[in-house]
Amino acid sequence: MSKDKGGRRSHAWFVGTDRDNFIHRSWMRNQGLPSHLFDGRPVIGICNTWSELTPCNAHFRRIADHVKRGVYECGGFPLEFPVMSLGETLMRPTTMLFRNLVSMDVEESIRANPLDGVVLLVGCDKTTPALLMGAASCNLPTIVVSGGPMLNGYFKGRKIGSGTSVWEFSEEVRSGCMSVTDFMDAETGMSRSVGHCMTMGTASTMASMVEALGMGLPGNAAIPAADSRRYVLAHEAGRRIVEMVEENLVISDILVRDAFENAVMVNGAIGGSTNAVVHLLALAGRIGVDLALDDWDRLGRDMPCIVNLMPSGEHLMEDFFYAGGLPAVMKEIGSRLHLEAITVNGKTQSENISSAECFNRDVILPIDKPLAQHGGIAVLRGNLAPQGAVLKPSAATPELMQHRGRAIVFEDIDDFKARVDSPDLDVEPEDILVLKNCGPKGYPGFPEVGNMPLPSKLLARGVRDMVRISDARMSGTAYGTVVLHTAPEAAAGGTLALVRNGDMIELDVANRRLHLDIDDTELASRRDAWTPPQTKFDRGYYQLYVDHVLQADQGVDFDFLRGGSGAPIPRESH
Ligand code: FES
Repeated sequence: MSKDKGGRRSHAWFVGTDRDNFIHRSWMRNQGLPSHLFDGRPVIGICNTWSELTPCNAHFRRIADHVKRGVYECGGFPLEFPVMSLGETLMRPTTMLFRNLVSMDVEESIRANPLDGVVLLVGCDKTTPALLMGAASCNLPTIVVSGGPMLNGYFKGRKIGSGTSVWEFSEEVRSGCMSVTDFMDAETGMSRSVGHCMTMGTASTMASMVEALGMGLPGNAAIPAADSRRYVLAHEAGRRIVEMVEENLVISDILVRDAFENAVMVNGAIGGSTNAVVHLLALAGRIGVDLALDDWDRLGRDMPCIVNLMPSGEHLMEDFFYAGGLPAVMKEIGSRLHLEAITVNGKTQSENISSAECFNRDVILPIDKPLAQHGGIAVLRGNLAPQGAVLKPSAATPELMQHRGRAIVFEDIDDFKARVDSPDLDVEPEDILVLKNCGPKGYPGFPEVGNMPLPSKLLARGVRDMVRISDARMSGTAYGTVVLHTAPEAAAGGTLALVRNGDMIELDVANRRLHLDIDDTELASRRDAWTPPQTKFDRGYYQLYVDHVLQADQGVDFDFLRGGSGAPIPRESH
């Protein structure tokens, strides 16, 4: 992507004496803004995903205020603007359906307005990739400020983590090991401060990706939302974005291939979410970096997981921050990283982590004594996933990583919910649960239902994990031997659509193989007989989504959004 050089964009709106300049300034003045702010200084957009419907981002007006302090301090002119927010816990059918829509909102909001640089305020899962993708397609100076994780959750004296403990407790209630009263009481202890999920779920993973990519200041990943240092970081980001405009340090200067490779390796070291795979593939597609699904396996394969956080381990983000946070992790694996990669503060990763220290070896482990030897994402292929599928080894059961079992097939999520707890369901612990039609087009929206709850009758027998395969995603806070993102998805005619009850499936993680054990003739005849599911959508955003969404191995972006258009100044219309 070419770098947009030349004059400051905001001058086209605010500097001059003609009728249009009058219009641009006069209406702005109704906010009580003095004339000297329109003297040609850098105009900094603060792209805010604040919403009371997104509890993880509900403190963002305060974060924006601290960014503004920094912008003003360095002679910039901050202007906060809203974009659609994506709250993971409330939105239906799934926030992932709207990630690309938000990225369009961000891209067009930036390009259409008199902005010279942007600060992206992100927190809840999809807000991070959505804002990064939109900003990448504009290519202005950009810095990311994450909202920070919640403080540790506690219930009855034990540490409990967002999401992870919900999945665990709900299985305990279903198996009769936990009372509903206790289950309800755990609610408030889990979410007791501002901030996003404090496990190493998708939000914390993406905040870590921001730091590993060089798009956030050091410390961005882990400072709790309730810690005053989160607001110092926001203030510093406000100062720095003004300098970035002066230096014309744009997002494509930072998001180069080495930065993505660093992020992929860091994801392995932190035991990060499988969702980072699709988000980084989509982001790379926007900025013109040729990142492929197989890069995740190649770069992460031998990367040990050294962060002992739920869902792979036992601690939480607050502990991670006190232990040294991401700089300490990057220092520990530094010999494998591209440390000369430049970051938003104008320094290299090497300079940023030079003084990093680890203060708790139970939270950030030495690389030679890791939590799991293989922390990266395993990319599986075979006749069941010719375009790939993923599995997170650090969250899986080692004994199930090589497994052959009978398929118990659910045609869609409704079929699954209707039958999974039936006493008549013919299922044994060594079977493999297969869920279809939960991919990008099939659901639609690629929801986090891949970590299917286990059948009650097996939970009652003490079973706590089974091999599960789907074309869905799973929450970054979830765990289990779960094969996800199977591509092509069932609704796009992938082999997953052809699996029948009783077929034998082989999972061999060591050899990266996912195989449906039926002969090619039978497979071909099933394929001939297959008809695509009828689409239920004939208008609006849902139709746009189903018509244009790409498969998981390409990041689930829209085909027409890949690449960027820079930030040329649109024509005036007054
Ligand atoms: Fe918002 Fe988990 S629900 S980060």
